[in-house]
Amino acid sequence: MHFLENFSPQLVVASPGRINLIGEHTDYNMGYVLPTAIEKKITFQLQKNESDTHCRIYSKGYDTGFELDLRHIAISKIEWENYILGVLHEILKRTDGLRGFDCIVESNLPSGSGLSSSAALECGLVFGLNELFDLGLPKMEMVKLSQTAEHTFVGTQCGIMDQYASVMSEAGHVILLDCRSLERRMIPVSLDPFKLILLNTKVSHNLATSEYNVRRRECEEGVAIIQRDFPKIRSLRDVTEKMLTECRDKMGEVVFKRCSFIVAENQRVLEAAEALGQNDLDHMGRLLYKAHEGISKLYEVSCAESDFLVDFTKENPLVLGARQTGGGFGGCTLNIVHRDGVDSFIKSASEAYAKAFDISLEAFEVTPSQGTTIVRKG
Ligand code: GLA
Repeated sequence: MHFLENFSPQLVVASPGRINLIGEHTDYNMGYVLPTAIEKKITFQLQKNESDTHCRIYSKGYDTGFELDLRHIAISKIEWENYILGVLHEILKRTDGLRGFDCIVESNLPSGSGLSSSAALECGLVFGLNELFDLGLPKMEMVKLSQTAEHTFVGTQCGIMDQYASVMSEAGHVILLDCRSLERRMIPVSLDPFKLILLNTKVSHNLATSEYNVRRRECEEGVAIIQRDFPKIRSLRDVTEKMLTECRDKMGEVVFKRCSFIVAENQRVLEAAEALGQNDLDHMGRLLYKAHEGISKLYEVSCAESDFLVDFTKENPLVLGARQTGGGFGGCTLNIVHRDGVDSFIKSASEAYAKAFDISLEAFEVTPSQGTTIVRKG
């Protein structure tokens, strides 16, 4: 794209991916989650151009770009463009300060790996444009606007966790977020001598978006059934195991399984927050295993590759716990591993995984990191 030749960015912004220690699919059920940003991120170089409405976006990773007119924003057939277009559409609904700009996007965050590269892309763009054009959007508005963009332009009816974690995270902390009230508690984490290791299955089964929306509907169906007996409940977050058992005969087996997972998972988040506070990593590890069991058997959003990697850790005394992180159907598993065992764990997991699936595993350590930030201005 010809703008690249004379590009001198006025602003550089970085927006991170995230892990979620525990609390999967609880966000859209108004429950709790425990995410934090990681070091891997998407970087945006931005400059205003002379035009009122003409914008040019170039992705270094895809080595391709597109141009658009702010007066005519419509859904594209190319998926990654929709994250950008959706965000611009939502900004234009809320402010009138946006003008033509050029942007180069660069990422070291693997996409489709359950680390929320989508939220990083959405949140980084709105954060950067807010700064560049002085739009005056508060952080929480940027979080919500990015979530809406994903609903309307991408079609995933996601919860708020990813965008919230991408923007609000603080280094050295995980966020205990109440997805109903949006109140948060920052929990300091010191895992030493343990480390958080991600194993990237490198598979991302296509089911992800469609099945995600199906899960959401199944949960809503469960809520509607439980409400007949317990009219005060508003979401699965309000449901206890006892209520669910009482309603079991009134719902199909699948809906029951989905609801059981969410009710238990929500409790696990609170237990995990407590365990982290007391530095009880053994307990934390056990919760990770239980969560994965539910993800796989009850919520059915795992896959053979993730199950294999989680099972593989169970024989290893230097691994406290493991589970698939993120929306599901592949992506990364999150492992709590003693520092003395990290190298041998990665080596043996890589060998076993290559043998079983003929895929070379990607493994890296992550630490709780800072949310979206300005890297350079002017
Ligand atoms: C995706 C969604 C989130 C959340 C997770 C599952 O990452 O974007 O809102 O629902 O899946 O916990």
